Amino acid sequence: MREVSIIKKIGFGVEGEVLLVQYRGQKACMKVGKKLDRQMEQAEVMAKLDGAGGTPKVYAVCVDTPVIVMEYCEGTTLAEVYATASPADRDRIESDVRCKVGELHRAGYSHGDIHDENVLVCGGPGEYEARIIDFGCAKLLSSEGKEEDLKDVDDMFSECEVLWVE
Ligand SMILES: Nc1ncnc2c1ncn2[C@@H]1O[C@H](COP(=O)(O)OP(=O)(O)O)[C@@H](O)[C@H]1O
Ligand SMILES: [Mg+2]
Repeated sequence: MREVSIIKKIGFGVEGEVLLVQYRGQKACMKVGKKLDRQMEQAEVMAKLDGAGGTPKVYAVCVDTPVIVMEYCEGTTLAEVYATASPADRDRIESDVRCKVGELHRAGYSHGDIHDENVLVCGGPGEYEARIIDFGCAKLLSSEGKEEDLKDVDDMFSECEVLWVE
C-alpha cells in the first residue's frame, strides 16, 4: 500500500481505527476493519451507492488486509454539531438526514445503523450538509422493500483501485 501514507487518527471504529491519510495526492479516509470479507461487503455497498445519500466515494480496497480507502468528509459527527447548532440549523440538518436516508432507500439499500456518530455534518451554520457513513450493517432491499442478504462480492474490483500490502 505504497499509495497510502498516514496523517493522523480521526476515529475509533468498533473493529479498528479510522485514519486520515494521503492517497494519490489528496486527503482520504482509511477505515481499518478486522475481517476482509466484511470490509469488502461494506466497500461494495458504498461503491454501488456511488455518492447517494452523501456516501463517501470508495477510492480503493485492499486484497490482503481489511481496509477501505474512501473520500474524506471534512466535518463533525451529528452528535457534536447538534450540541451547538441553532434550532433552525437542527431542523435543516434533520430534514437533510431524512432526505439522504430516502436517497439510500431509492438506491436499493437500507443502512441498518443510523445514529448520531454515523452521520457526519459538513459545512457551516446555515449551509450544513449531512453525509451518511458506516455501511457495516447495510442490507440490499428487494423490490418490495424487504431486506435481503448482500450478494457475493463479484464485481468489486471493477469499481475502485485494488491495493495490496508489501
Ligand atoms: N469518510 C469519512 N470521513 C471523515 N471521517 C470519517 C469517515 N468515515 C468515518 N469517519 C470517522 O470515524 C468514525 C468511525 O467510523 P465508522 O465508519 O462509523 O466506524 P464503525 O463501523 O466502527 O462505527 C466516525 O464516527 C467518524 O468520526
Ligand atoms: Mg459507526
